[in-house]
Amino acid sequence: LIDNIYAREILDSRGNPTVEVEITLACGHTVRAGVPSGASTGSREAVELRDGDMNRYGGKGVLKAVQLINTEIAAALINIDAREQALVDQILIDLDGTENKSRLGANAILGVSLAVARAAADVSELPLYQYIGGLGANLLPVPCMNILNGGVHARWQGPDFQEYMIAPYGAATFSEAVQWGSEVYHALRQVLLDNNLSVGVGDEGGFAPAVNSNREPLELIVKAIEKAGLRPGEDVGICMDPASSEFYEDGMYNLRSENRQLTSAEMVEYYAKLVNEFPIVLIEDGLAEDDWDNWPILNKTLGDRIEIVGDDLLVTNTKYIQKGIDLKVANSALIKLNQIGTLTETIAAIQMCYGAGWGAFVSHRSGETIDSFIADMTVGLRTGHLKTGAPCRGERVEKYNQLMRIEDELGMAAIYAGRKAFINN
Ligand code: PGA
Ligand code: ZN
Repeated sequence: LIDNIYAREILDSRGNPTVEVEITLACGHTVRAGVPSGASTGSREAVELRDGDMNRYGGKGVLKAVQLINTEIAAALINIDAREQALVDQILIDLDGTENKSRLGANAILGVSLAVARAAADVSELPLYQYIGGLGANLLPVPCMNILNGGVHARWQGPDFQEYMIAPYGAATFSEAVQWGSEVYHALRQVLLDNNLSVGVGDEGGFAPAVNSNREPLELIVKAIEKAGLRPGEDVGICMDPASSEFYEDGMYNLRSENRQLTSAEMVEYYAKLVNEFPIVLIEDGLAEDDWDNWPILNKTLGDRIEIVGDDLLVTNTKYIQKGIDLKVANSALIKLNQIGTLTETIAAIQMCYGAGWGAFVSHRSGETIDSFIADMTVGLRTGHLKTGAPCRGERVEKYNQLMRIEDELGMAAIYAGRKAFINN
């Protein structure tokens, strides 16, 4: 039974305030959860409650959310069995009472939802991944490592496209995939230095060089894969998240680094060319969240060859995922806990994806804490792939490290998802 719930304000990886929740159980154990925060957020995401008090943290304080947890939410959940996750999440949703969790804040609600799951795993004396997934919790995901950052995560000089990720799917184990990823990351550092490009990093730990096109990073990454002694395509694939809602202006895609504007159809052509030329296995948010009409064209053009993921478009919300399935806009959904706000709703989103033969691509946020909940969730729900930044920076590597711990613990039972984790690859 939940004995006490206590929240406080802490800092995230960008130095902004976020919510941390502690739950103490009747047995005396205390567990903790931290809440992440995005920068290129979808406009239909559940709402993050921020104080708006310009005298503190530029208005970004979360003392209101903290206060709501310590009063209203705590009162509603004390003496409830932490193992009743669906009940707890329903109480939170009802207590909030809004469509988008704007009264209590998705940050307040998620912190509690995740801490409750951890508390339940603790009571059940199970590792979190097994509490979530039972005996089927043995599939280690392909780590999609964001080694080159652009867009709003490196606005000062990077490419328009936000994320260039490597997927070391040819490795035999998760730990070997991490090793390969790290080796490619360090090879890329050398390639950038050789080309007189900056090796400063962006929000997710990837390098943020001042390139002159969105294609150039792909060339640099292929070079780095080879330099690391690996085969582009066979051993290591490439995933991209252009996060195109961020450069979609007045119905056009504005590629500042290339000084040109493309229509939706031209943007699809642009991707098709890149897919022909580079070992790309996944494109996320290739089109914008308000460009629903053109998503089926993107999916029709490339969806039978690579994974097409909706992030800002679908916001981990079964309402939009169902619409996306019906309209054939993609073949996969990005899964971010804080886009929807509770664990139960996140699991429902993943299950809806599986029901439609879609992929479920689990993701961190650009603002993170060291909480590694998504690592356990990915194994528990067998999603086969996740993205959680570069193999660099504490808040990013903590997720990869947790996955290495899980692989170690599972021993012979652990299975590495490999290339088939990617839809239509
Ligand atoms: P965000 O970026 O966390 O800043 O929203 C991640 C993404 O777009 O996938
Ligand atoms: Zn995205």
